[in-house]
Amino acid sequence: MKKLVLAYSGGLDTSCAIKWLKDKGYDVVAFIADVGQNEDFEEIKKRALKTGASKVYALNLQKEFVEEYVFPALKACAVYENKYYLATALSRPLIAKYQVQVAQKENAIAIAHGCTGKGNDQVRFEVTARILNPTLEIIAPVREWEFKTREEEIDYALKHKIPCNVTKKSPYSVDINLFGRSIECGKLEDPWVEPPEEIYFLTQNPLNAPNKPTYIELEFEKGIPTKINGKKYLPVELLHTLNKIGGLNSVGRVDMVENRLVGIKSREIYENPAGTILHTAHNELETLVLDRETLHYKQGLSYKYAEMVYYGLWETPLKIQLDKYFDSVQKQVTGTIRLKLYKGTCTVVGRKSKYSRYKESMATYGKGDKFDQKLAEGFIKLWGTPYQK
Ligand code: ARG
Repeated sequence: MKKLVLAYSGGLDTSCAIKWLKDKGYDVVAFIADVGQNEDFEEIKKRALKTGASKVYALNLQKEFVEEYVFPALKACAVYENKYYLATALSRPLIAKYQVQVAQKENAIAIAHGCTGKGNDQVRFEVTARILNPTLEIIAPVREWEFKTREEEIDYALKHKIPCNVTKKSPYSVDINLFGRSIECGKLEDPWVEPPEEIYFLTQNPLNAPNKPTYIELEFEKGIPTKINGKKYLPVELLHTLNKIGGLNSVGRVDMVENRLVGIKSREIYENPAGTILHTAHNELETLVLDRETLHYKQGLSYKYAEMVYYGLWETPLKIQLDKYFDSVQKQVTGTIRLKLYKGTCTVVGRKSKYSRYKESMATYGKGDKFDQKLAEGFIKLWGTPYQK
């Protein structure tokens, strides 16, 4: 029998995929990646076997996800189209990497995923897998199978007694990991419709959020967040904690229409409490410690980097070179940012760093001013000279 490794989440698509692939004559090994979905993996494992997988791998990839994927993107200030912190996009190349490893260990001839033919995730999985091992065949059941609607797929699941939690009443498609949550489909497909409160899970309704602001101090070392309110946290714990504090204060809800790689626009809602806090603080620290030219030059590269992550180009030469550039910039990104979280807002209220380039004696309009205003006259004349008629 031909063996393949399926990236399995326990949801409707990948559950139906097990049965569908088996009927096509494959021996299906299920691979579950724990990137912080906070699910019962023992239960999902059982479900995979019950549905017909011959073997299940469940790997906890949380630490690597945060340290090797989330933090580099944070150092790069990577935000797609100014709004999306790339939580889903960042997890895909990591999952693909381990899926390929499992396939090699199992001597499988193929890998499979449950992505649709309209999305970005298929691109991210497949481009990464092809770079890492071009000999593996790639199968995408959802692109091929006969079901035209989600309802038909649910009927197939019911008919074959495939265990999964989806009902016809919950029409949303959700992806979640430690860095955030993405929600689409159902009534969200109409970009005029306000997202109903029921879709949110990580962030509390701002109407119920505390009436008093929560202040936090976030410390960075070389661009990496290390302490909250003076207490050291390991990376995974730090994200959990920021998700909790941020979520309680309704921080990190994003509603956007984005440009997908396959050429369509789609409407997606994101929840990223930790992502919002981290990016807000990290950006602020960079403005304090980086010289003007580096800061401005870097912004253009951040834009490019975010695009590459979104486009599935994680394992490509330019993206890897850009990581080295951003790392070198982060040498001075050490310091503390004080933030105020309040009913959905995340505001910087204080910043300090031993590498701060802010000089009060130069900026002040009060006593102790060291700025020689007489120099300005000559400076301005020379600066404008090239443009004089
Ligand atoms: N639009 C986001 C991306 O392409 C998220 C995709 C997954 N979203 C979901 N609701 N399943 O990265």
